[in-house]
Amino acid sequence: MDPARTYELLRTLTTPVVAITCARAGQRNGMISDGVVRAGILPDVPRLVVQIHKWHLTHEIVAETGRFAVHVLRRDQVALVTRLGFVSGRERDKLADLPHRLGATGCPILDDCYAWFDCTVLNRMDAGFSTFFLGQAVDVGRGTGEEVLEPHHLRDALPPQYRDLYQPNLEAAQALARPLAWMLGPSHP
Ligand SMILES: Cc1cc2nc3c(=O)[nH]c(=O)nc-3n(C[C@H](O)[C@H](O)[C@H](O)COP(=O)(O)O)c2cc1C
Repeated sequence: MDPARTYELLRTLTTPVVAITCARAGQRNGMISDGVVRAGILPDVPRLVVQIHKWHLTHEIVAETGRFAVHVLRRDQVALVTRLGFVSGRERDKLADLPHRLGATGCPILDDCYAWFDCTVLNRMDAGFSTFFLGQAVDVGRGTGEEVLEPHHLRDALPPQYRDLYQPNLEAAQALARPLAWMLGPSHP
């Protein structure tokens, strides 16, 4: 099948838009993802999987600390997506004036969100260009609002300057991903 059509089909598998935060000594960071999934059915063993590209600052910090927090966003939190999802924390401190506290794992818990999961990493899988981190939530909270931000809401609500950035950003990420796609860890056959 033609790759553009394949990508369109892959995008039907997206999940709600979330903010992933992390911290290490003297540094806090956050990014956006629409690929975080529930990884279990046990309410007393809340688990989820995040998929983070290897070149992101968030990857460096989560890989090093084994901790991250996931925040499900409300439909009205598009400005948070543009703040965390379009520039790297290597360029600026994205959490500097974003109200938050440090949670049980030491990760930033944002004051404003629909819900949050504060996680420690139980396991990880090398996917070449990204790592899948399996998180165990050690603390869970409900914020405010009734409707979560879905990718199709975001596409409609992104300000024009970010809409124009979305495609070039995606193509730049794809160019970084391609040479790494088959560079899987030593356990792979
Ligand atoms: C809607 C949206 C979804 C995204 N989904 C992912 C994702 O699932 N995994 C990922 O690694 N990056 C994803 N990104 C890209 C990162 O959020 C973005 O590159 C961020 O600036 C990385 O920041 P960092 O270098 O400070 O960690 C997404 C961005 C947007 C806007």
